[in-house]
Amino acid sequence: MSLYAIGDLHLHFQSELKAPGQLYGRVWKNHEEKFRRNCAKMIRPEDTLVLVGDHSWGKNLAQCQADLQYIRELPGRKILLRGNHDMFWDVKKTPQLNAQFAPDLFFLQDNYAAYQDYAIVGTKGYTFEGPFYLDHRRRIIDWDEKEEAHAKKLVEREAVRLRKSFEAARADGYTRYVMFLHYPPTNILQTESVFTRMAEEYDVEQVVYAHSHGESRFNDSILGTMNGVHYSLTSGDFLRWKPMKILD
Ligand SMILES: [Fe+2]
Ligand SMILES: [Fe+2]
Repeated sequence: MSLYAIGDLHLHFQSELKAPGQLYGRVWKNHEEKFRRNCAKMIRPEDTLVLVGDHSWGKNLAQCQADLQYIRELPGRKILLRGNHDMFWDVKKTPQLNAQFAPDLFFLQDNYAAYQDYAIVGTKGYTFEGPFYLDHRRRIIDWDEKEEAHAKKLVEREAVRLRKSFEAARADGYTRYVMFLHYPPTNILQTESVFTRMAEEYDVEQVVYAHSHGESRFNDSILGTMNGVHYSLTSGDFLRWKPMKILD
């Protein structure tokens, strides 16, 4: 039995593609088919696959049906995390989504999923992504403070949601955690954040995130072990559409 993760599928079977990089980048060519083939080779029915957000370009649930059906047909148990592009997923409607798509899909928000003796916890997260102002040597010299203040509020809201997920698991007796975020746990200015501190507080073994796609962004946040927590980036193009094994 294994736990796998990958994010940023950005499916668009029924909707308009909004990122030009996805149209022209080689890594994105037939990515749905490459990913489907890799899953068929790697994932067994008893395995669990966490999809780390940005599932679909669809603007609402009706426009995501084919994308969710594609995910449904992948092997193993599927757990979905909310990404910034998942417009179909209103946080308040998570229980309805879970009722509608059970038992094939589980939507992870303000709840948790069990994997062996681990609790899989998570939320979308958030990080301030600029705009940053650079000097002629491309060093950051300043940033948009209004945007930064706005981002702070979103970070706080996501921290509350993440704690809810942890506390739901803890109330059921879990002490071992794998923590999922769609956004990276830190931005390019930070070495720690409310999310890294929470991971340390709950003694999390691994933090798994996505969202950073395109080669220039693969090193935006923490990769490897910091303060006893292991951090992995799982955006689909970074993994070349091969899900990453998180646990055996
Ligand atoms: Fe994305
Ligand atoms: Fe994203």
